[in-house]
Amino acid sequence: MSPMCQYSAQDGFANDWHLVHYGTRAVGGIALVIVEATGVSPIARITPDDLGLWNDEQVEPLKRIVDFVHLQGSKAGIQIAHAGRKASHSSPFKGEKQLTLEEGGWETVAPSAVPFRSDEIPPHQLTKSEIKEVVNQFKNAAARALCAGFDVLEIHAAHGYLIHEFLSPISNIRTDEYGGNFNNRIRFLLEVLTAVQSVWPENLPLFVRLSATDWVENGWNVEETTALSKILYEQGVDLIDCSSGGNVEHAKIPLSPCYQVPFSEQIRKTGIFTAAVGLITSPEEIQDILQHEKADMVLLGRELLRNPYFALNCAHHLKEEIEWPKQYLRAKRK
Ligand SMILES: Cc1cc2nc3c(=O)[nH]c(=O)nc-3n(C[C@H](O)[C@H](O)[C@H](O)COP(=O)(O)O)c2cc1C
Repeated sequence: MSPMCQYSAQDGFANDWHLVHYGTRAVGGIALVIVEATGVSPIARITPDDLGLWNDEQVEPLKRIVDFVHLQGSKAGIQIAHAGRKASHSSPFKGEKQLTLEEGGWETVAPSAVPFRSDEIPPHQLTKSEIKEVVNQFKNAAARALCAGFDVLEIHAAHGYLIHEFLSPISNIRTDEYGGNFNNRIRFLLEVLTAVQSVWPENLPLFVRLSATDWVENGWNVEETTALSKILYEQGVDLIDCSSGGNVEHAKIPLSPCYQVPFSEQIRKTGIFTAAVGLITSPEEIQDILQHEKADMVLLGRELLRNPYFALNCAHHLKEEIEWPKQYLRAKRK
């Protein structure tokens, strides 16, 4: 299951909604349930309703989810994130607009003072010492994710959020060692990675979600993503979760079934494991991707919102024998 914001937390705390939502997908036979983008600090959240891992009290309600997922025989992952200039917005249920201080929002931060949309309040450009603080926040959130019992950690470096903002020359116009050439733009991610690896054990999988392209000329592109993936592989990252877009408002994205799979195929050539995601909705598509080695893992998003029992139904469709929850055995089709 691909990470998907639920906009249902209070002060960053997970609650019964999250337990039932993630728990149901584990009951439905999903092998790895990845919990949504979880803010490494209060201002790292996209909305005030996002999950957070910036204090120790936030660990316990997440541990409850992990324990339940484990009881179903599934693995639990979590995505740690900083929304950068795309933070301080209301959720899709509340209008999805930038929040002012009066509306409960906050000043956003970014590599450069360039807003995502031209009509938005520009973000504050992070100083070098502030960058170090954010790196530390990622490290502390990773340590808390470990305490909560998660099996997999994913660093969110995609979709126009803070790390992607550093990677892309569209949002990063810095002139110091964090901006300009490729090596400078990837520096922040590599610092986050090193900090996270100092607390996240080597024997537990570490994923990085990347946007393979900004889908615009002169933006972050597949060649840079491939070069970065090779470096991440050498630095001990286990898997690249291959997404795209999110950093340019009016980018034209050629949406079609499995449209991001070619990125996974390309990145996989560097030797690193990859996950394919995006408009993958049928058992046949999943089989094709895995059997033809276009990816090592398939992540599903919206299909699992429509159908939490997708994996159980898939197995039936493909005549594969998989374990059902014992409570539901009488409903299992032969
Ligand atoms: C409601 C919703 C919330 C999402 N939240 C996140 C998120 O927290 N982190 C992330 O990396 N992607 C997020 N995404 C993107 C999904 O993880 C996934 O990459 C995307 O929906 C494409 O896959 P799909 O076609 O199977 O839905 C979200 C998507 C949806 C629909």
